[in-house]
Amino acid sequence: MTATRVEGPLKLTGAARYAADHRPDGVLHAVLVGAPVAAGRLRALDVAAARVLPGVTAVLTAADLPSFPKLPPPAAVRTMPFSDEVIRHEGQPVAIVLAESIEAAEAGRAAVVVDCEPGTPVLIGHGRREPAMGDDAVVFERGDVDEAIAAAAIRIEQTYLQAPRHHHTMETSGTVARWDGDRLTLWDSVQASSTVIPVLSAALGLDAADVHVVARHTGGGFGAKGYIWPHEILAAEAARVAGQPVKLHLRRPDQFSNVGYQPWMEQTIRLAATADGVLLGLEHEAVNNTALAETHVEPATEASKSLYAVPALRLRQLVERVSLNVPTPMRAPVEGPGLWALESAMNELADAAGLDPLDVRLANFAETSPTDGRPWSANGLREAYEEGARRYGWRTRHERPRRDGPWVIGHGMATCSMGSFRFPGAGRVRLRRDGAVVEANVHDIGTGVQTVLSQIAAEELGIPPELVEMRWGDTDLPTTGPTYGSSTTMGTGSAIAAAARDVTKQLAELGQGGRDPLEALDRAGIDELVGEGTFALPGGSGFNADGQGTPYAMRTWGVIFTEVGVDPDFGLLRLRRAVGVYSAGRIVNQVTARAQMTGGIIWGWGKATMEESDQEPVHGRWLAKNLSNVAVPVSADIPADIDVSFTDEYDEAASLIGARGIGELGATGVDAAVAAAVYDAVRVRVRDLPILPWKVLAG
Ligand code: MOS
Repeated sequence: MTATRVEGPLKLTGAARYAADHRPDGVLHAVLVGAPVAAGRLRALDVAAARVLPGVTAVLTAADLPSFPKLPPPAAVRTMPFSDEVIRHEGQPVAIVLAESIEAAEAGRAAVVVDCEPGTPVLIGHGRREPAMGDDAVVFERGDVDEAIAAAAIRIEQTYLQAPRHHHTMETSGTVARWDGDRLTLWDSVQASSTVIPVLSAALGLDAADVHVVARHTGGGFGAKGYIWPHEILAAEAARVAGQPVKLHLRRPDQFSNVGYQPWMEQTIRLAATADGVLLGLEHEAVNNTALAETHVEPATEASKSLYAVPALRLRQLVERVSLNVPTPMRAPVEGPGLWALESAMNELADAAGLDPLDVRLANFAETSPTDGRPWSANGLREAYEEGARRYGWRTRHERPRRDGPWVIGHGMATCSMGSFRFPGAGRVRLRRDGAVVEANVHDIGTGVQTVLSQIAAEELGIPPELVEMRWGDTDLPTTGPTYGSSTTMGTGSAIAAAARDVTKQLAELGQGGRDPLEALDRAGIDELVGEGTFALPGGSGFNADGQGTPYAMRTWGVIFTEVGVDPDFGLLRLRRAVGVYSAGRIVNQVTARAQMTGGIIWGWGKATMEESDQEPVHGRWLAKNLSNVAVPVSADIPADIDVSFTDEYDEAASLIGARGIGELGATGVDAAVAAAVYDAVRVRVRDLPILPWKVLAG
């Protein structure tokens, strides 16, 4: 069944209100003043000139703010800015200007004189490396990898790099804060408003019951709005100090240094294989940059833990501390970076063994979870390989023309995979005589969540989806899992299905089972029946990535085939077509699901060939502070021929509705497939993303 997007009319008519669209009476505009250097010490702040500007009501410095406690997860940082005088990255907030207009606040920011004793910034590639967790970089080990490498007929050892990338959401992050006595209301641009409450209440010493967050529409997140960031706390604190509501909407340049990015990564893969390409051993080491005093670990080696049936495995995770703000998850985290390395190495193994890259994957197919031998909850990967190869014409690819005008044509493939990230949550269904109301504190981030959840309720109740009204985006509604981790449909969808079944059960108890539910309600003479549902995890846990605690291992899979044109004179790349087939459990809505995967492939093309946030090599700051130097795919870069499909599955072990998770899966593997296609075309192996023209020419 195809339903139209229920939030579409709100957006089309401008009725959708984002965080910054809320202007409570007396609201002040806040602008952060950032440190002008990436390293050093704050000597002095001269705010006198700013304070007397027309419209400026206050300039807050560390002296005006309380000393904040260490923040609990899921805050993105442990230590709030303003905690000491050390400057650890450029743009680190050192003052907050409050003014009656945004223009006055901007003028105030320009008038603040920040005096820093500069230090020498630590650049990417030159920082201190340390184990990501604990004392040992080894996070997983099985068998003897060194022995496997010594005994192998084929050995691959390569290092794969990827550049940092910012999320670049269309709507920058922002928070509007209003106090009513001791009660705090935030209109916030976030992906998980329920998790704002514990962090804000801990930071500000509030009762959780006194924090209320409204977050209906979020203009893109991609992970930048997943965790809780200091500006959200600063907006609330500034409003408390000022005694007036405060709007702190990050300016585009502030976004670079205040809400994370995907880190720079250096990954080394060592493969040991038989002459037939059967893996004997695999070592995967991942290093990601993090901040000097804050730690984000990008657990990219997870990709190698569960994909192939390899007897000896060693995974090593390190971080490197540099003078940048702390990174954060970004679509697709974990396996996104991890598969760039692993799948590139698998393609190199295929070449070394003289095998088709698809056959190397099949030779190492994991029939059960390589981590612990559990059976898969469902696994359509073999079928996806076969169907994808058929749709692409993979086996006969080299019978096609190898040139098209200036373009030399290459073909590449990779496996796609993600953990099945499950979060607990609740949902409510109110059956009324004229239809049903679904209540769940999800956000509209553009993925179609409202449409899918309405559809699930309608299907469970047996009423048309037009008769379902969706209420979302308010922490007074039932608490759901976050709108990230490709988890919402599976988790909240199951909670809502359970709530709808609760309604149906109540109707049956009233002797009205088996009827049209609206008619049944009418006959029973009841105006409203309220059903409650939850999605719970084994042991009441708050997060589950791999079916832990169940008899089944859970993951999502897929395969991506890409055809890339390479202009050998200029090093230009063109995506000509792509085929993706995915195994992700039941697909509730084909339209929104295909849009997610197509978007993921486009996102992956951007990562593979365009996106890069450079650390300026002398000053250590982000080189770009606006979108003018940012290359991302536009419509002209994307061919019409992107063929997305799904294997037919119903995974009842993963969730009540049979779904696993889809959103970010489509963004995995694309980079490795594209790099392989470039090699297939011109025999240039680029192991350093993005694959820019000069790298192709240098090869
Ligand atoms: Mo995505 S990094 O789970 O928003």
